[in-house]
Amino acid sequence: MADAVSTDAAPTLKVTASPISDAARLLADAIRAGPPTTGPVRLAIPGGSAVKVLGPLREDLGTDGTWSRVALTWVDERCVPFADPDSNRGAAYQGGLLDDAAPPALELPLYDDGESPAEAVARVQAAWSTSFGAALDVVLLGMGEDGHIASLFPGAAALRGGAVAAIDDSPKPPPRRITLTREALATARTTVLVALGEGKRDALERVLAGDETLPAVGLPGLCIVTDVNGLGGRR
Ligand code: 6PG
Repeated sequence: MADAVSTDAAPTLKVTASPISDAARLLADAIRAGPPTTGPVRLAIPGGSAVKVLGPLREDLGTDGTWSRVALTWVDERCVPFADPDSNRGAAYQGGLLDDAAPPALELPLYDDGESPAEAVARVQAAWSTSFGAALDVVLLGMGEDGHIASLFPGAAALRGGAVAAIDDSPKPPPRRITLTREALATARTTVLVALGEGKRDALERVLAGDETLPAVGLPGLCIVTDVNGLGGRR
């Protein structure tokens, strides 16, 4: 599986009947390869269907203690309380994908209960520098049918000037979100994008064709894992 990861700007495509476990294996390999220097391995995860990968990933990384070396954050978060079903972080805990009894080395939530979006951005931006060394190592992404990743929507104004931003007009509800910027996502050496189901076909074709209006295009070390067959004329 490790050979499925691209090392340049061209994405690698992995079409499989078992995208969740295959993506988990790719991520585990990349995480075990570690950061370029000593310290925690910096991982960012999404909400939505792709976060299911975290189940088998955490189980795998727990077997040799690697999970306790992971500094974890999110690619985006909705500005809702932790207990709200729309909370990406809340859903990960409620779904058993994360567990207080087996914590990673560090966890950086993008939104804490009661914060204003501006307060969340300031807190995360500071922790991004101090705890993450202003970079990620490995990213797990989902992708919407419109080609968005994190809360970076095609056609929206580019978010510049920082690693994290607040938006208040997400086309996908809820509208108020905190997101890592594309610049922040592009610091990772490996990104595994998991796109499940026929509804993602058009967006996948556009990413594979290099449509630069889609924010996934050009991410370094991008590996697309999908159950959608026949993309780009391939079977
Ligand atoms: C979010 C997600 C978002 C998600 C895509 C795909 O918080 O909304 O991080 O970017 O990954 O919308 O979601 P699905 O995989 O559920 O289609």
